[in-house]
Amino acid sequence: MPSSTRESLAYRTALSIIADVDPVIAQAIAGELDNQRRQLKLIASENYASAATLLAMGNWLSDKYAEGTVGHRFYAGCEVVDLVEARAAEAARQLFGAPHAYVQPHSGIDANLVAYWAILARQVEAPTLADLGVSHVNDLDESGWERLRHTLGNQRLLGMSLDAGGHLTHGFRPNISGKMFHQRSYGTDPATERLDYTEVARLAREFRPLVIVAGYSAYPRRIDFAVMRQIADEVGATLMVDMAHFAGLVAGKVFVDDFDPVPHAQIVTTTTHKSLRGPRGGIVLCQPELAEFVDKGTPMVLGGPMPHVMAAKAVALAEAARPEFAAYAYRIVDNAAALADGLQRRGARLVTGGTDNHLILLDVATSFGLTGRQAEAALLDGGVVTNRNAIPRDANGAWYTSGIRLGTPALTTLGLGVTEMDEVADIICSLLAAASPAPAGSGPSKARYELAPDAAEASRRRAAELLARFPLYPDIDLS
Ligand SMILES: Cc1ncc(COP(=O)(O)O)c(C=O)c1O
Repeated sequence: MPSSTRESLAYRTALSIIADVDPVIAQAIAGELDNQRRQLKLIASENYASAATLLAMGNWLSDKYAEGTVGHRFYAGCEVVDLVEARAAEAARQLFGAPHAYVQPHSGIDANLVAYWAILARQVEAPTLADLGVSHVNDLDESGWERLRHTLGNQRLLGMSLDAGGHLTHGFRPNISGKMFHQRSYGTDPATERLDYTEVARLAREFRPLVIVAGYSAYPRRIDFAVMRQIADEVGATLMVDMAHFAGLVAGKVFVDDFDPVPHAQIVTTTTHKSLRGPRGGIVLCQPELAEFVDKGTPMVLGGPMPHVMAAKAVALAEAARPEFAAYAYRIVDNAAALADGLQRRGARLVTGGTDNHLILLDVATSFGLTGRQAEAALLDGGVVTNRNAIPRDANGAWYTSGIRLGTPALTTLGLGVTEMDEVADIICSLLAAASPAPAGSGPSKARYELAPDAAEASRRRAAELLARFPLYPDIDLS
């Protein structure tokens, strides 16, 4: 690997400066690169950001407080942060064709919270204040304040169920969204394992939610957002789409027309670090009528913005606007289809029978007699990083699970193509076929497993061969 590249020099210098203060952390940073270089990364929510994106975060922009929005700050001296935030927001608007973008959320959870509270502020708080004859919450007397709090706390949300692929932030009890809203969820059709829009419409008519959330972390198919909007309009709900997982496919114009959420939903949230390949963070896009409420994310639910991360978002969004990124997005989907095909040809059962996005849900219970937890651990032994995931109507529950979620954004960034996906499918199936549940007192264990001799080593060798052909950060040599 080249040791004289600008990237090598930048990172070696940065690490030596860090090592002067805390050598353990400097080693950990280098160690994470080592680890990632040794593993085939199939975690659907991870990627590898560019050196430009990563470096945009490691600087003194981090030192500046800038609560408020562009041109309306609660601190002096924010002209540079104004420039950074305006540039990132403009890049997001352009890339996604959205009327308004808010780039301050620190993560996907935060983006969703901003979106929920923007909807609540517009649909519940504003009319309640008008009803009570005041224009600001601070002008409410105690009984008015209690009435507003009661009304805000009694709203309904309809989202996708967890075992169908929804996310905890879509109204589930362990997350604050589940404590804020009365929630009901729609699942998938038991026969096809796909979204059943007629059933979503029936539930919406019955439940009359304020918010309908579409979007997922583990659903291997596209969603028709035009239909979801029709359903929302019919019951007077606001359609919110969480495109955290597939934002890169929207940016790269793989998901267009009815599959592009931006023209259909009133509000769209995303993370920036998954298929979009940016820094960790979130963005909210919305229609003009929600903009003033979204812009109050700080101080409504967020602390001061992170100017260094907004800078990195601007860099990543500029990268995502390039034609190479669209080609990358198409390759992600082609690779997922090739991986699905390779797994199925080797006898694996996939939820919905395949994929038309960036992810695959492999039913390891039916295919290999394993729990998701056993499969996840066995694959890690063999140099393949994945995560276990519940499948619809999962008999093993949310902890052990019956599935493994596989995603192609990261390996596609490395340059692997459809031919290599067949090799990856073979590595996965060979390893899982060599694993079996360990015996436990009352039957097979759900956690422990046994692996045939040499299976893990053979798998690691094959993974290493692929990774040697497609190295991670080829321009960075830390030695
Ligand atoms: C659909 C969806 N929304 C939100 C999030 C939360 O993102 P973050 O981890 O950045 O808070 C995730 C991440 O797993 C996700 O998959």
